[in-house]
Amino acid sequence: MFKKKIEDICNRQVEREAYSSNLYLAMAIWAETNGLAGIAAWLYAQAEEEKMHMLKFIKYINERGGKAVIPALKKPVAEFKSVEDMFKEVLKHEEFVTASINEIVALTLDEKDFNTHNFLQWFVTEQVEEEASVKAILDKVRLVGKNNMYQFDRDILGLRTPPTATQAGA
Ligand SMILES: [Fe+2]
Ligand SMILES: [Fe+2]
Repeated sequence: MFKKKIEDICNRQVEREAYSSNLYLAMAIWAETNGLAGIAAWLYAQAEEEKMHMLKFIKYINERGGKAVIPALKKPVAEFKSVEDMFKEVLKHEEFVTASINEIVALTLDEKDFNTHNFLQWFVTEQVEEEASVKAILDKVRLVGKNNMYQFDRDILGLRTPPTATQAGA
């Protein structure tokens, strides 16, 4: 049986993954309109991944006999002081999402919902990767500094970790 409490918190995550996708789109637009095509491409790809995360939750909720809800979303920030500042925001946001996933994991244990607990493990692993990849990018941004942004923008797509196999099909 799919408990309402679990359904609700999974729907909260639908909203958070959808917001993540929109946030990265807003960042992609900022980068693209500031001549940073490589960074924009990285962010557009990231936005697509977040949409896949949202869909995974939607399908899971419906599969368990609940009903996913498409939420209204708040408008993401659209201006950033620098590339470094923007990636700091990405990291902060991913840490927020990690905490959010962990909260759901904790609730599934309280509620003894081991199916949802199992479903969440993919996200637990994914968040470790997301945080690590953004941290690696931030390190590089700090190393190159403002003057070498042209080169960094050209190289950033090489830093992308390919999406996990289950992502596309789920
Ligand atoms: Fe996500
Ligand atoms: Fe993410």
